[in-house]
Amino acid sequence: MDMKELTAKSVAEAIGICYPECSLTKEEIAGMLETPPDQKLGDFALPCFKLARTLRQGPPVIAGKLSQVLSGEGIDHAEAVGGYLNLFLKRGNLAKEIVEAVLANPGRWGSSSVGEGKTVCLDYSSINIAKRFHIGHLSTTMIGHSLKRIYDFNGYTTVGINHLGDWGTQFGKMICAYKKWGSREEVEKGGVQAMVDLYVRFHKEAEADPALEDEGRAWFKRIEDGDEEALAIFNWFKEVTLRDAQRVYDILGVQFDSYAGESFYNDKMAPVVEELREKGLLVESQGAQVVDLEAYGMPPALILRSDGATLYITRDLAAAFYRHATYHFDKCLYVVAYQQNLHFQQLFKILELMGCEWSKGMEHVSFGMVSYEGRALSTREGYVVYLEDLLNKACEKALAIIEEKSPDLPNKEEVARQVGVGAVVYFDLHNDRTKDIDFRWERALNFDGETGPYVQYTHARCCSVLRKAESFLNIEPDYSVVTDDEAQDVLMLLSRFPETVRKAMDNNEPSMINRHTTQLAQAYNKYYFEHRIMDANDPAGSAARIRLTDAVRDVIRTGLYLIGMEAPERM
Ligand code: ARG
Repeated sequence: MDMKELTAKSVAEAIGICYPECSLTKEEIAGMLETPPDQKLGDFALPCFKLARTLRQGPPVIAGKLSQVLSGEGIDHAEAVGGYLNLFLKRGNLAKEIVEAVLANPGRWGSSSVGEGKTVCLDYSSINIAKRFHIGHLSTTMIGHSLKRIYDFNGYTTVGINHLGDWGTQFGKMICAYKKWGSREEVEKGGVQAMVDLYVRFHKEAEADPALEDEGRAWFKRIEDGDEEALAIFNWFKEVTLRDAQRVYDILGVQFDSYAGESFYNDKMAPVVEELREKGLLVESQGAQVVDLEAYGMPPALILRSDGATLYITRDLAAAFYRHATYHFDKCLYVVAYQQNLHFQQLFKILELMGCEWSKGMEHVSFGMVSYEGRALSTREGYVVYLEDLLNKACEKALAIIEEKSPDLPNKEEVARQVGVGAVVYFDLHNDRTKDIDFRWERALNFDGETGPYVQYTHARCCSVLRKAESFLNIEPDYSVVTDDEAQDVLMLLSRFPETVRKAMDNNEPSMINRHTTQLAQAYNKYYFEHRIMDANDPAGSAARIRLTDAVRDVIRTGLYLIGMEAPERM
């Protein structure tokens, strides 16, 4: 039940009557319909200057003519104002149509089957071994997770891939340091931090004793050659890193279908390099093998070093072929910070030059940087915020607020977790992903304004209304009472939710759903404060308002779910 579509249909009919020679389709008209800034100007508006050329008449004339013949299911009336045709929907009808459509399929409003039979691979989070998970990884993790849910919701088969950064000479150094100064217990106990400490020590000691570097390289060579001891230590480092990361993933509710990382492609690069050579794309440059991309305004892509070593992009080339062969993806998304823009441009260009049609389905979903309380993060300056600490702190702060606001709430700890984590996730996904983010506690955890707790609280408010509504549940609702401006706002937001979901998917932009859900919460709160939901003197009207509340609850919950947040029923 899409109001825009219905309206477009009526407009098309009106055009058909006034201008029989015009052949605009419903879909084309739907594309022209706008949402007026003020409800007094109608629920939809058709800017007739877009038709002036085709119909060879002035916009006010067109609007005037159409307004006179316009009628149709769900349309109350139309007004010509300037060059605009303003359309007003029948309100009682509208409420019934939309609310009943939402409630007919709980949890599915806005879903679709456009992706049926199609597969999308999503490369996100993609952490590095022996590095701690800090807040710089939040966006890739949460944007990727949210997109996975959005594509799922639209019928796609989704494959979540954590492309682990588990290859590089640093791992040789780490093993070397571990053998010299480390112990199994320390690493088991200290986790990734213990490995980081070892690595830092390696660099300090190597300044005094450069021979250490050679030892480090020798250990890396042993990993490359498949030496048993080296591999055992390396794999154990991986295990420990993933165990630490898993704690964060569990808090966030994030999962993956594959952890095939860089090292997974060790034996899969040779054929790709061979193909590059056969296709005449590899050229030698100072002993190294590169793909020249000058014609496309890019620096050359280094594929093999002069010693034959492979690079990050070599692995990504192999990964692209592997993913295509394994998953037959229609789309393959890389949720990676914008610092890697060039890397992905090069990657996609090389695949195109190799003649891979399927590379058209690949996309770099880039995003901005996160700073913390007004300051850029810097490992070098020791200004780092670990994600696990941030999330734990968010839960603690949320618990303190709950203790104060609703001390009698059952399972406070669990709700505090949902609210604390939700606040962080919401904050991360609130603005266009390409914008930089400055994380601020007093903004993230505020219960007012555009925040996670505010939207969750509105959902809990709806649940609370519904808990008290039992005596009205079996009464036939009378939707003719749901015609006021506040209700109209709520209804239009419900009705447009599917369109927003679709746009969010087309743009790989979860923030669109975040903002739409926030607007819905705001509109409902306004409605709630200005109208009595339950009125014993008007059971049928109450039943209608309760069903509206239920629809809002359902769609807020779906919106939160799609951005990766939970929706507690009590707060
Ligand atoms: N591990 C990389 C990093 O932290 C991100 C990997 C992204 N995925 C990819 N296929 N290149 O920078």
